[in-house]
Order: sequence, then structure tokens, then C-alpha cells
Amino acid sequence: MSAFWHWFVVIITLAFIAVMVWLFIATGRSKVPTGTNAEGQETTGHVWDNDLTELNNPMPRWWLWLFYGTVIWSLIYLVLYPGLGNFAGVLGWSSEGQYLEERERADREFEERFGELVQKPLEELAVHPDALRMGRNLFAHNCSTCHGSDARGARGYPNLTDGHWIWGGEVEQVWTSIYHGRQAVMPGFGAALGEQGVTRTAVFVQQLAGLPVDETMAQAGRQHYEQVCAACHGSDGRGNPMLGAPDLTAGVFIYGSSLDDLRYTIAEGRQGVMPAQRELLGEARSRLVTAYVLSLNANGATDD
Ligand code: HEC
Ligand code: HEC
Repeated sequence: MSAFWHWFVVIITLAFIAVMVWLFIATGRSKVPTGTNAEGQETTGHVWDNDLTELNNPMPRWWLWLFYGTVIWSLIYLVLYPGLGNFAGVLGWSSEGQYLEERERADREFEERFGELVQKPLEELAVHPDALRMGRNLFAHNCSTCHGSDARGARGYPNLTDGHWIWGGEVEQVWTSIYHGRQAVMPGFGAALGEQGVTRTAVFVQQLAGLPVDETMAQAGRQHYEQVCAACHGSDGRGNPMLGAPDLTAGVFIYGSSLDDLRYTIAEGRQGVMPAQRELLGEARSRLVTAYVLSLNANGATDD
């Protein structure tokens, strides 16, 4: 905060408190014109409709003390905690400091409980009950927003339980996907292929995936495919895990296999991003969550 805003906040805050106190003292003391009503009680002297008067009762004591109490409380608070511009408060508390302290404590506890365990190879962690319990927890908090709480994925987010991998299912490949992240780049070919070309290629992709299609359309699409798509997806359509180009023959599409979905994918391209966990979770936690993901596929399913 610049010096100007610092003093702006300090002066406004303190002036406001001072004015409130002054207002109460002043109104408490001020002499209102008094009179008496028919019963002889003291009134403010105001009279409406000939006989309607206002009693001149002081504010209840307890209510006043409550008010002064809040003023004193606010002053104590402003001395102890940050609130007055750049003044940090004598306790030196900050929300960031509290967060860092809590994180440090959590990290220490984590290190004590899992420090040794996470050194084990990922294959071993993937069958270790403690590692998997923690991994499942980490998955629920850090991955399920995108991949679903059951890890079965959603539109645009791959299913991590079906043994079908875009970026490869070897232990090292899954680790890289999670720890270093992935950035898929499928360019759009709408301009290059034209509308008819896009539709024909989409039909050919459906044929690759084993869906029933119009044979002549697919044949026309195959030519486009071989010219444009085979470089990344392979001439047989089985994809390339190095590029994150999915296997188009497996019948698994994260962006859908309807003609409209495929036309959109081909014309506009797709750029799926798996966020790197290196900075987010750190190495130890990434190892546990990777072990958990590996365990989901441990039932013998492999990349086909
Ligand atoms: C912001 C959404 C998001 C979050 C959070 C996220 N992912 Fe992903 N993840 C993706 C997307 C999108 C892809 C697919 C990238 C692509 O299009 O190739 C992906 C891909 C993957 C892959 C590769 C799958 C394959 O078929 O090769 C793995 C493994 C993975 N994620 C695991 C995780 C784990 C474990 C976490 C939690 C630590 C996580 N993801 C958190 C969006 C996310
Ligand atoms: C430069 C490499 C490259 C080329 C060329 C390319 N693709 Fe792709 N394709 C990718 C990548 C990478 C992805 C993954 C995108 C993502 O996950 O966000 C992808 C995704 C797709 C998908 C979506 C798969 C799914 O799971 O939903 C389809 C369909 C597809 N490509 C078809 C084609 C067709 C048809 C062509 C030719 C017109 C083509 N691609 C050309 C790299 C390429």
C-alpha cells in the first residue's frame, strides 16, 4: 500500500471511530427543549396532533456500555491485528503467515508418516495399502474435479480406469503425465479441408472406430486422413503416445464420436491440458497419487 493509501485508511478509520464516540457523547448531553405531559412526565417538548408528545427518556445504560465496549474492542483489535493501513499489528499475524504455518505443519506430519514410504518404487506403492489410502485422498482433493471422483473421466477428461491411455500406460509415462503435466496440440483443419472434407474425414474416423458408416464417404475421407492426419495418429489410426495423439481405433473418444463432435474436433482442433503436479502437489504426494492411479488399472487391463 502506498503512503497515501496507508494514511488515507488510518485517518478515515480513526476519524470514524472518534466521530461515533463524539456523536454519542454529544447527543447524550445535548439539551432538548423539555416540557411535561398531562401525567407530569418529562417530554422532549414536541407536540403532534395537539396531544401526542414524546417522552424524554435517556438511552438504557447497558446499551450505552455495549456501544463503548465495541469501540474499545475495535481499538484493541487495531493495535493487535493488521487493519490500519500498513501497520502490521503488534502480534505480527497475517492470513498468509497462518496459511504457511499450517502448511509447514502439514508437510512435517506428512514427512513423518510417508517420508520413507514414498521412496519405494511406484510399482510397490501401487499395492501398498497405506500409500493407496493416502493416494485416494489426494485424488479426491486434487484430481476428481476434472477426472471425476471415480476417476472415470468426463467429456474432455480421460477415464483413468479403462486401461486405455492417450499418453501411454507404462509406469514412467503415467508418472510423467501427472508430475510434468501434458499439453495436447491438435490443430484445426477446417480451412485446409473445407466443410465437405471435414465431414468425410469425420466419417472415416467413425469407420476407424468400428462404427457403421457410408462406405463411399469413408473412402473419400481416407484420402484426407492419409494426407493430413496420419502424421500424428498413424497410418493405421492407432495414435502416438509421444504426441498425445489418441488411438482412433479404440472406440474411446474424450470429445465424443458423433458426427458433430468429430467435425468440431477436426475443424477447430483440441488442446487438452493436464496441469503439472510438480508445483501443485510436490514430488512425494505426486508419487502417492500416481500409485493410486496405477492401482486403478491393476486388474490386468493394458493399453490396446
Ligand atoms: C484441470 C483439470 C485436471 C486436473 C485437476 C487433473 N487433470 Fe489429469 N488430465 C486432464 C486432461 C484435460 C487430460 C488429458 C490431456 C489431453 O487432452 O491429452 C489429463 C490427463 C491425465 C492423465 C493421462 C491420461 C492418459 O490417457 O494418458 C493422467 C494419468 C492424469 N491426467 C492424472 C491426473 C491426476 C492423478 C490428477 C490429480 C493429481 C489430475 N490428473 C488432475 C485434466 C486434469
Ligand atoms: C499435429 C498432430 C495432429 C494432427 C496432424 C492431427 N491430430 Fe488429431 N489429435 C492430436 C492430438 C495431440 C489430439 C489430442 C487432443 C486433446 O486431447 O486435446 C488429437 C485429437 C483428435 C481427436 C479427438 C479424440 C478424442 O479422444 O476425442 C480426433 C477425433 C482426431 N484427433 C482426429 C484427427 C483427424 C481426423 C486429423 C486429420 C484431419 C487429425 N486428428 C490430425 C494430434 C493431431
